[in-house]
Amino acid sequence: MSPDLIRLFEAARAAQGRAYAPYSRFPVGAALRDETGAVHAGCNVENAAYPVGTCAEAGAIAAMVAAGGRAISEMLVLGPGPGLVTPCGACRQRIREFAGPAARIHVADGAGVRAAFTLAALLPDSFGPENLGSEVAHG
Ligand code: THU
Repeated sequence: MSPDLIRLFEAARAAQGRAYAPYSRFPVGAALRDETGAVHAGCNVENAAYPVGTCAEAGAIAAMVAAGGRAISEMLVLGPGPGLVTPCGACRQRIREFAGPAARIHVADGAGVRAAFTLAALLPDSFGPENLGSEVAHG
């Protein structure tokens, strides 16, 4: 792993350790690097009213936006095995708001990175800000 990826992995693992997942018992952490190089992390936050719970990716994106970041360069999602913890459909669209098609999404478990995808592979032919005529930093 490159030093940049190790940093994302450690940030996601720390966030996973703080996940609030008493219902699924499936703690997830996510970390991303923004256009300034800053790293932001989030974890899933579940709720007794199940649909109100939020994913780790949504938390990391909210942390980025609150800190002033506006573009995702790279992201890592870390969760328990044995399956790959790829972002859910809604989170793929959330990532799309702030990332271009070439952005890499790494999928990890506690032992290390297991796979990597481009956003275009996870969400082909996507609808994004450009479709509404918005100018965005990630092009
Ligand atoms: N979850 C995430 O936080 N991110 C993912 O990529 C997949 C699923 C959460 C949502 C819920 O709290 C738990 O994992 C089980 O679905």
